[in-house]
Amino acid sequence: MFYKLAQKVMFQMDPEVAHNIAIGSLKMTGNNPLNCFYSQNVKSTPVECMGLTFPNPVGLAAGLDKDGESIDAFYAMGFGHIEVGTVTPRPQPGNDQPRLFRLKPAKGIINRMGFNNKGVDNLVRNLMAKKSDIMVGVNIGKNKDTPVEQGKDDYLICMDKVYQHSAYIAVNISSPNTPGLRTMQYGELLDDLLNSIKVKQSELAQKHGKYVPVALKIAPDLTLEEIQSIAESLKKNNFDAVIATNTTLSRDNVQGLDNAEETGGLSGKPLTELSTKVIKQLAECIDGAIPIIGVGGINSAKDAQDKLDAGATMLQIYSGFIYQGPQLVKEIVDQCDFK
Ligand SMILES: Cc1cc2nc3c(=O)[nH]c(=O)nc-3n(C[C@H](O)[C@H](O)[C@H](O)COP(=O)(O)O)c2cc1C
Repeated sequence: MFYKLAQKVMFQMDPEVAHNIAIGSLKMTGNNPLNCFYSQNVKSTPVECMGLTFPNPVGLAAGLDKDGESIDAFYAMGFGHIEVGTVTPRPQPGNDQPRLFRLKPAKGIINRMGFNNKGVDNLVRNLMAKKSDIMVGVNIGKNKDTPVEQGKDDYLICMDKVYQHSAYIAVNISSPNTPGLRTMQYGELLDDLLNSIKVKQSELAQKHGKYVPVALKIAPDLTLEEIQSIAESLKKNNFDAVIATNTTLSRDNVQGLDNAEETGGLSGKPLTELSTKVIKQLAECIDGAIPIIGVGGINSAKDAQDKLDAGATMLQIYSGFIYQGPQLVKEIVDQCDFK
């Protein structure tokens, strides 16, 4: 009820202004009684994933709280985990505004934010300051001005800094808004990246006496052959999980709508089927060896169930949360069949 009212007001504003006001308000209220406007009890539905036990299978996807400013507010909403980031070694402003667009009739969003974030050191401070014990995954990326050939170094720098503050680390090579980034999803570049991350993980596990799982986040715009090749690389390198999917470059389901021609990644309802298809193909290639975290256009318990049936162990939402509010977390947990 409160969310619907807040959404009415927010949807009158420019999307990025609304986003910043929302994150600011959540930051101010996350730890005090004012969180009663959005806090809710979500029934305990523990799920095992990556060797960790999550209190429920529904997480907040990366990109909404890039700098980890409002983590405790998302805990109050009942999320089973939150993925903060994408964070890069150095702060960067991202692309020029406007860079965030609603496609309301389709319940979609197009963004070309370009990893705007305040840098990894700032994120670590926020992780240390959070009060709740919500499971936090940290999604890491490379700075725009780091050449792709040296991109690996940026991931390793971020890993070093966030390792001891993360439940898991997500390696993002699938954003369409950092030039060249998606080329890291293929062939030797991918194999080399995954291998270096696993070597770093074992160094850090030794140093900190704690094993933090690593997950790879992939795009939905991949052929079956490309999915097969990524799956092989994930298995070969013993990756702990795969997050499928990021936003799409396709505009198949939004032709003719306002903002549909904007450059960037499309998310929300128009992405639902494509991302479920990728999860299904991935699940067939992986054959249970690595858990899949399903994300992309989950707008209802039915969409969530389809992702689970396709092979996902855990779920994340972003656009569905914008269009439906925190209630969606509860709806999914109450109505889905988690094996
Ligand atoms: C405005 C916006 C910003 C995003 N930023 C990131 C990001 O920084 N890193 C990332 O891995 N995914 C990012 N995403 C992708 C989401 O995490 C998610 O994978 C995608 O939106 C599909 O899920 P959805 O349909 O539930 O939104 C972003 C999505 C949106 C809409």
